[in-house]
Amino acid sequence: MTSHEDVFGVPPEGRWAAPGRVNLIGEHTDYNEGFVLPAALPHSTVATVSRRPDRLLRLHSADGAGGVTTLDLDALEPGRPGGWAAYPAGVVWALLGEGHALGGADVHFTSDVPVGAGLSSSAALEVVTALAFGDLYGLGLTPDALARVARRAENDFVGMPCGILDQMASAACAAGHVLFLDTRDLTRRQVPFAMEEAGLRLLVVDTGVTHAHADGAYARRRAECEAGAAALGVPFLRDVPPDRLDDALARLTDPVVRRRVRHVVTEDRRVERVVALLDAGRPRAIGPVLTEGHASLRDDFEVSCPELDLVVSAAGAAGALGARMTGGGFGGSAVVLVDAEAAQAVGAAVLAAFADAGLRAPRVFAAVPSAGARRLPL
Ligand code: GLA
Repeated sequence: MTSHEDVFGVPPEGRWAAPGRVNLIGEHTDYNEGFVLPAALPHSTVATVSRRPDRLLRLHSADGAGGVTTLDLDALEPGRPGGWAAYPAGVVWALLGEGHALGGADVHFTSDVPVGAGLSSSAALEVVTALAFGDLYGLGLTPDALARVARRAENDFVGMPCGILDQMASAACAAGHVLFLDTRDLTRRQVPFAMEEAGLRLLVVDTGVTHAHADGAYARRRAECEAGAAALGVPFLRDVPPDRLDDALARLTDPVVRRRVRHVVTEDRRVERVVALLDAGRPRAIGPVLTEGHASLRDDFEVSCPELDLVVSAAGAAGALGARMTGGGFGGSAVVLVDAEAAQAVGAAVLAAFADAGLRAPRVFAAVPSAGARRLPL
């Protein structure tokens, strides 16, 4: 694999890492100003950077086939370049847009975050870029600021109308914990998730499928949630009082909007239930809440797909404590909570179910909640 010095002819000034994530629960709640509960993966994107005396931004990924993408800092515009380079370029564009004085730089990336698996490889790329530039230029960016600038890059430069879940997970998670985040104001708490001690494993099953039109469907879900909030006269679905859910649903005439609202409002409660169980030292008991969350995403929010449903049903039948899709849906990955001694058998059962259905074998690995974005030694 090529090094920074091989590509750019100069040694890097620093090295930074930002992880991908899984979301334990709290799906499609972030753009409704609700709650999420992600964990960072051990898989990370690592950037090395050296500053340049001119105004050029040169980007290279050791993983891709492409060469070096060269951009002029003063001519960055949403929509160009496309592909992976849009994410770091968008972050630099967003930092400049906030008035930060940045100069040119050479940036080299390597990553072991699976791409297209719904595990936030793009957020890792964005957050590591924001962290590196923030450090090198002494911008004093907090994790919140890193996540906000990363999200702005994704929303306004790349054009994906995501919430802030992925970027906050990458910027602010802590090893051994899940991050209980209120996406309304970014208040948060690290909740211990001591799986090893409890004899549990969290398996990630990457189905390897990405269904077409996922981006359009995501934007449509967002619009349906906004329509629901408007019909109910609240700023966001977060503001629907849970004990008034039935009244709220009865007031909605559009059955699709009604289902979307029911998912979002009940999902916020599921996040709170999972946090309460973890706080009470009962991590095994969260399993059924995860599976309930999957049913809500499948039936009410309609963002699952046959492959994700198969993971959940096969894992459940093989003795998993709970399972659900994680991330935006329409493909990507599921998480499965299992007793450690059952992990092997449950993983094998999922693989067998995929083989029986004539589907490509998914990738199964155990996720250990890991550290968020950080500077590494050179
Ligand atoms: C994607 C988005 C997030 C969030 C999830 C669903 O991962 O990037 O902002 O909306 O989907 O929870």
